[in-house]
Amino acid sequence: MVDLLLGLQWGDEGKGKIVDVLTKDYDIIARFQGGPNAGHTLEFDGIKHVLHTIPSGIFHKNAINIVGNGVVIDPVIFKKELDNLDKFNIDIVSKLLISRKAHLILPTHRLLDAASEAAKGKAKIGSTLKGIGPTYMDKTGRNGMRVGDLEFGNWKKKYRALADKHEAMIGFYNVDVQYNLAELETEFFDAVETLKKLSFIDSEEYIFKAQANGQKILAEGAQGSLLDIDFGTYPYVTSSNTTAAGACTGLGVPPNKIEKVYGIFKAYTTRVGSGPFPTELFDQDGETMGRVGNEFGATTGRPRRCGWLDLVALKYAVQINGVTDLMMMKSDVLSGFDKLKVCTAYQYKGETIQHLPYNIESKNVTPVYTELKGWAADLTKMTKAEDLPKALNDYIAFLEQELQVPIKIVSVGPDRLQTIRR
Ligand code: IMP
Repeated sequence: MVDLLLGLQWGDEGKGKIVDVLTKDYDIIARFQGGPNAGHTLEFDGIKHVLHTIPSGIFHKNAINIVGNGVVIDPVIFKKELDNLDKFNIDIVSKLLISRKAHLILPTHRLLDAASEAAKGKAKIGSTLKGIGPTYMDKTGRNGMRVGDLEFGNWKKKYRALADKHEAMIGFYNVDVQYNLAELETEFFDAVETLKKLSFIDSEEYIFKAQANGQKILAEGAQGSLLDIDFGTYPYVTSSNTTAAGACTGLGVPPNKIEKVYGIFKAYTTRVGSGPFPTELFDQDGETMGRVGNEFGATTGRPRRCGWLDLVALKYAVQINGVTDLMMMKSDVLSGFDKLKVCTAYQYKGETIQHLPYNIESKNVTPVYTELKGWAADLTKMTKAEDLPKALNDYIAFLEQELQVPIKIVSVGPDRLQTIRR
């Protein structure tokens, strides 16, 4: 049996925290797409951990963690993540398994990302510049290098041919990208040696057998549904399928084996990078959300854009993913607002619509808001659903009514313990 856990907005919903909270109920946690553009933050025992490629179940003794075939791995960042885990005495070789079919991010993929963004000028995507797009391009272009290639003696030859091609492509962009490839390669080859110490597996086979043996698997998504390469706000998206279907292709899980689909959303909305964001705020309210919510990218440190909850977009994500259980994060950040706004429709070309139009650029779309009462109480010490203030319960009831899916978890702070089940 496989359950999925996905972000429903533009990423940074708090997936890392919830995976960590849920891990005790699962035998295997498996990442299925994305790469080190993700930053999954976990907090417990007073320590904050940020994971980029490693699944968020790594801190639990009994769970096996799998990096699936749909993930792209940068050995250099991966090594740093492993180094950060050193002090926790985790048996990494037996607890962390890597799909042979996962693609490798080469140093030149990162350079290509930088060149591509520089060439786009004002139209840049706002990429995390981790080489994600160019690596997935090589995957679909059938040129990529995979983890399994490292088990063969001639992998450096393959590497060289691909890196040389990338260098020629960087020249094609005709922009100023400064780099010292020799230095980057020394670091890369060194990190590959670390990666090679881990267990490479045929993960689809492993997962198939685990299911046959009755093990419970949680597939951990990265980024969010509105960054999906097909269904997101293209071209301002990432390069993988962040939606439920991505778990099938990114792990080799058949659709009929998926049971629960946990959809994670923030009680408001944030976005990093460029692209449409109809409910974005440029006023004091947006500033307050950013400050109180500490809305800075876990991977890049960039300030996140903030705005009211967008139910049109959220409904779309619930639909695309077939969400069965919702989890509302960062409810505590909304404490203290007199009134809360929720976008329930868009004005688009003179009409009121309730779906995401093809051309969702902010200049074409004006949000239509419903106002709800805010609450003043500090939620961060609350532990039971009965403690929650009436106005928050009304907010939750309104969302459940609109989305027709129950909100099962309300998060009231970053720590594992600040999690209320309903
Ligand atoms: P890329 O995937 O790094 O190329 O970035 C493409 C877009 O997705 C940019 O707008 C990024 O800010 C956004 N993005 C990528 N990963 C994340 C994430 O983990 N959280 C939020 N936004 C992300």
